[in-house]
Amino acid sequence: MAAELVIHQLRAGYGHLDILHDVSLTVKHGEFVALLGPNGAGKSTLLKTLYGMTTHKGGTITWQGREIAGAKPRDFLSQGFGYVPQGRCNFPTMSVDENLEMAAYTLKDGDIEGERRYVYELFPILHKRRHEFAGNLSGGEQQLLEMAMAVLRRPQILLVDEPSVGLSPQAITLVFNELKRLHQGGRTILLVEQNTRKAIEAAERAVVLRLGKVIWDSPAGDVSHADLGELFMTGRVQERAAAGTPHGIH
Ligand SMILES: Nc1ncnc2c1ncn2[C@@H]1O[C@H](COP(=O)(O)OP(=O)(O)O)[C@@H](O)[C@H]1O
Ligand SMILES: [Mg+2]
Repeated sequence: MAAELVIHQLRAGYGHLDILHDVSLTVKHGEFVALLGPNGAGKSTLLKTLYGMTTHKGGTITWQGREIAGAKPRDFLSQGFGYVPQGRCNFPTMSVDENLEMAAYTLKDGDIEGERRYVYELFPILHKRRHEFAGNLSGGEQQLLEMAMAVLRRPQILLVDEPSVGLSPQAITLVFNELKRLHQGGRTILLVEQNTRKAIEAAERAVVLRLGKVIWDSPAGDVSHADLGELFMTGRVQERAAAGTPHGIH
């Protein structure tokens, strides 16, 4: 199937500061890509750039055949990008129901009841807890609520930034299971994660960013947790005799 998102030699940053120096990356329709890398590599900056929240300095972002680099967040939103930032963005003293209502508010001709039903079918756990304050949900459930608030707009690509941060092992499993389910349901996902084991287990492709550059891009099964440690530290992985030709970029 045709590629949906093609990022080519992208440069972006904050004001005069350059953070992304050379990012080329393609995400195909229905693909689940894990974007990995050490702290400060520019992973969050790349997701923010895919939501129009940084300064575009060069290169292209082609989305479904159209150039979109440098556009405003509302353009990314209306073109089908869904963004789940790191941390919590819900309204803690409002119920799950009310949070979803807030998320549905921006929909044109929004049928709030219908949208909520759609989300509750996807996330039955949230349905069970619909009358609870969002702030009283467990960490894992709150992360599902964050994803639900983005999924409600039926994005064509979901950008998720470090959903496992601060969660218990059980909650991490819950969140990853839901991500896998969203993907199995046909959704395109670009996931930033520091939990590399879980990320390469769940995703189809692993892309490593280091110092604002893509240094590795391969099927997730072609890179091990140990390789990733090496890539993060040194930017390269030692050739393994039996591994054949690595798909990564060196
Ligand atoms: N709003 C900002 N203004 C200026 N610099 C920033 C801003 N946000 C992040 N940075 C810098 O950009 C670099 C990459 O950060 P980030 O994209 O958050 O990395 P990662 O998500 O890979 O840990 C870091 O050096 C960070 O200090
Ligand atoms: Mg980050």
